[in-house]
Amino acid sequence: MSLAVRYNDSLGFNLQKYEEKIMSEEKETTIVVMNNGPYRILGENITIKDAAGNTFGLAGRTVVSLCRCGHSENKPFCDGTHARIGFQSEVQARELPPPIPKL
Ligand code: FES
Repeated sequence: MSLAVRYNDSLGFNLQKYEEKIMSEEKETTIVVMNNGPYRILGENITIKDAAGNTFGLAGRTVVSLCRCGHSENKPFCDGTHARIGFQSEVQARELPPPIPKL
């Protein structure tokens, strides 16, 4: 079973179709903040590094989920724990204020 299938919700939202749409529209790597779930990273060339600059081997994945709830046993990757613990966080895209200039 792919991760995408696991994220179908009871309202009929089909993450796999959503991701296919994003992949066909976006040329850049895209991060989707899933309601009550992980950050989904979609792209043809995803690179994730640790703090020391070492690259995670992603085995050619074009979709990766990063834990947003803080409870995964496989950080930084999502292992589905967010659903078991009832993680709640719904967000909507918005504009951020301009960055504070560095002195
Ligand atoms: S967001 Fe899935 S385990 Fe944390």
